[in-house]
Amino acid sequence: MRVLGVETSCDETGVAVYDGEAGLVGDALYSQIALHAKYGGVVPELASRDHIRKTLALVRAVLEQSGLARGALNGVAYTAGPGLVGALMVGASIARGLAWSLKVPAVGVHHMEAHLMSPRLEDDPPAFPFLALLVSGGHTLLVDVQGLGRYEVLGNTLDDAAGEAFDKIARLLGLPYPGGPAVAALAETGRPDRFRFPRPMTDRPGLDFSFSGLKTFTLNTFEAHKGDPEAPADIARAFEDAVVDTLAIKCRRAMRQTGRDALVVAGGVGANERLRAQLKHMSGKEGWRVFYPQPELCTDNGAMVAYLGWLRLSGGERGDLDITVRPRWPLGELLPPAAR
Ligand code: KG4
Ligand code: ZN
Repeated sequence: MRVLGVETSCDETGVAVYDGEAGLVGDALYSQIALHAKYGGVVPELASRDHIRKTLALVRAVLEQSGLARGALNGVAYTAGPGLVGALMVGASIARGLAWSLKVPAVGVHHMEAHLMSPRLEDDPPAFPFLALLVSGGHTLLVDVQGLGRYEVLGNTLDDAAGEAFDKIARLLGLPYPGGPAVAALAETGRPDRFRFPRPMTDRPGLDFSFSGLKTFTLNTFEAHKGDPEAPADIARAFEDAVVDTLAIKCRRAMRQTGRDALVVAGGVGANERLRAQLKHMSGKEGWRVFYPQPELCTDNGAMVAYLGWLRLSGGERGDLDITVRPRWPLGELLPPAAR
């Protein structure tokens, strides 16, 4: 079975084809980062309009790349949520229209579930069950993954997501959007021992996160050192170290609590090098393994949607014909109420 996947939940248009036998046979991505950069964040209406311009062009590119005719597709998957409502509607309408014209089934999938499953596209995939840390611009979740569709959310953020905190600190420091890579690059030149920022909620039990206090602490430090040319880099370093430590401490706690032997890290912040190094070091000491999607598949992409769509459609799942999206869609609500 060959499934076309369409991702348009935020500021990336992603289209890919996953083949049950050959694996990923085509994958194309268009990033709107340049479009939104001057506004310092994603402008929803501009995002929707750009998805309209790019999605079908990417579908054509992916079919050409994979040498497939449209008729060779057996199903279409699209991100149905969570995300920006207008952006989601573009992908849902195009995907459903395409599936209808080809007379193949279509399925709307959960964006975070797609991130969650993405490391299984790699050559040495993690086996179920595993623990997953999902860290993106909109989410910070620790999830116990027992199997496809069997998820237990163990920890969540009470306020900002980890990526959102990076983006806000980037704005404070005058760095471009998206903030994560920019803050990380500036932190490379900062001193690790000048400032020590708090590791929020690590000194009490539980697996939830909170990054807004750390953001305020960073802001106050920045204000107190205005005029010091070295302060921004040192602050970026202290901030990155605090976020990375906090995420790693909670991962260790969740791994000990569940007794799992594999940790999957996915979502945009999973591309952070310092986080990767720290989890690698920790996993060696604790006796478990860490799995990541390849860096290009850490951020939003069509490949993870095609793959999850393939898992669901080849398992017999069929969506109805409605074009509906769910801008807010808690991962825990993926199961039908009777099975929860
Ligand atoms: O998963 P993603 O592409 O989109 C969402 O679904 O949110 O994640 C984007 C987020 C942004 O907040 C961005 O600043 C962050 O991931 N990010 C990073 C890095 N690369 C991307 N954060 C820290 N370090 C990075 N290297
Ligand atoms: Zn994402």
